[in-house]
This record gives sequence, structure tokens and C-alpha cells, in this order.
Amino acid sequence: FRDAQTHPDLVRHRGFNLISGTHDPDDVDQIYDLEMRDSDVFVVTYPKSGTIWMQQIMLLLEAKGDVSTISKNKGDSNGDVMPWIELTGSREEFITAPSPRLRVTHLQYHFMPAALSRGKGKVIYVARNPKDVLVSYFHFHKLANMLETPKSFNEFFEKFMRGDVFSSSWFDHVKTWYSHKDDVNMLFITYEEMIKWLEKICVFLGKELTDEQLASVVTHSTFSNMSKIPKASYVRVPDSLFSHHMGRFMRKGTIGDWKNHMSAAQSEWDIQ
Ligand code: A3P
Repeated sequence: FRDAQTHPDLVRHRGFNLISGTHDPDDVDQIYDLEMRDSDVFVVTYPKSGTIWMQQIMLLLEAKGDVSTISKNKGDSNGDVMPWIELTGSREEFITAPSPRLRVTHLQYHFMPAALSRGKGKVIYVARNPKDVLVSYFHFHKLANMLETPKSFNEFFEKFMRGDVFSSSWFDHVKTWYSHKDDVNMLFITYEEMIKWLEKICVFLGKELTDEQLASVVTHSTFSNMSKIPKASYVRVPDSLFSHHMGRFMRKGTIGDWKNHMSAAQSEWDIQ
């Protein structure tokens, strides 16, 4: 199954780039056979599309807006209670974890538990403007030690456009998941309209919150408030994983930062 390695930090597996050392391809393959519960929810994203934002929203919805639960949760970050299913060890933990099992993932559709396609469990897919994703991903590569630091923005631009990054091509990722947007157990939303979607997210998840509780979810998931909550902002991730002096997970959180990075030619690049 294992494809040829394309890049020192990446391992290409069944047409999809994983991170060597961080993901075990054999382990990832076993996700397909996981048994699902109706209450399971996967937040699916291409990297840098608002994963940790949606993670914070999900945990706050679960806590009916009570932000004090975030700091009481186990671990250093929200990822300890709502982990990435593709991380080594996460699949085993999922099997025995109590409900509701809330998880995030950057995986492509074909790796996901087969039971999802039979309507078991739910998926919320968050998509973001690829130009902003590219810029965010460029900065993230400087912070994240498991990824190769780009030599320049231009070099990273070409890598991203070739899909020579973790999670491969943004275009393939969004296209494949978008083709499932009408599945009964899937909600497809965007980073740009995240908060507008909040009530629909509640309906989709079958959650009933009062207006006050919903307002609290909104307040505690803004960029500035999340930045002040260590577990939400990932500032306590060990230095071995993140070079914190190189940047922040919560970087800017704006729409259109690509305009400050891309040349006219890059912004009009034809993916053919
Ligand atoms: P920028 O690098 O453009 O600032 P992911 O969680 O998928 O890795 O995505 C990270 C991106 O989401 C970063 O984008 C980060 O700042 C942004 N982000 C995180 N929380 C946010 C929030 N509450 N509001 C807006 N953007 C947020």
C-alpha cells in the first residue's frame, strides 16, 4: 500500500500525504473499520481551515456555553479531549472512549470509517478560501517542527499548488468532501461564515441551547478570546512539537491575508 516518499517530512500513502513520524500508515488504514455510534461527530478540514476554531465551538456547545469546562478539561490543549483521529494512539483510544466522541481529522474521505457512509455518526466539514489557507499553512510550517520550514513563500506556494504538503491537494480534498455535502449525516460549512452557521450546527447536532448559552459560545470562540485561553490557543504544546518563538497557531484569524503575500500572477494561478 505504501507509496514512494515524496518529501522528507511526508509519507505518501494511498494517494495522500501523511507526516512521517507523526502518522502511522498502517494505523490510519484501520480507521476504516472503526465501529461508529450515532453520537460520534467528526470535524473534517484541510489544514489551516479553522480546525481549532471549530474544535472550541464544539466543546463549548457540549458544555452549553460554560467556558470554565475548557480549563478543567484534561491535557494541555483542546486536542487532548477532541483529538485528531489520525494521530498514533488516537484510534485505540476512540474504541473505548465514552460518548459523545468528538474528533477532528484532516483525512480524505476514503480513509474514514465505512460506517459513516451508511449514515452512522456525523461529519461537519469546514472549508476556507484556499488563498488564505495557503498563507496560513506557510506560516504554520515555520512553527511546526514536524514540517519542513519553507525556504521562501514562493517555494511554498509551488509546493502547495502541487499538493506536495500534508493532506495533499486542497482542491482534491474539498472536491471529494463537497461531493458528499448532501449526505444526511454531513454538514458542509465555511470558515468565512462560521458564526452564521451556529444555529444550523445546533440543529444538525440536535443541540438545544438558550440564546444566552449560544451567545456565550460565540463570545468564547472569537479570535481574541480564544487567544487568551491556553487550551484553545495551543500555546502549551511542547517546544519539541512547536517552535513557539517562530509564530502562533492563533496567528491573525482574518479573511484576505493572502493579499499581503501573493503576487498578481500567484493569485490568478491556473491549477490546470
Ligand atoms: P491564520 O493563520 O490565517 O491566522 P487550523 O485550526 O485549521 O490549523 O486553522 C488555523 C487558522 O484558523 C489560523 O489562521 C488561525 O488564526 C485561525 N483561527 C483559529 N481560531 C480562530 C477564530 N476564533 N477566529 C478566526 N480565525 C481563527
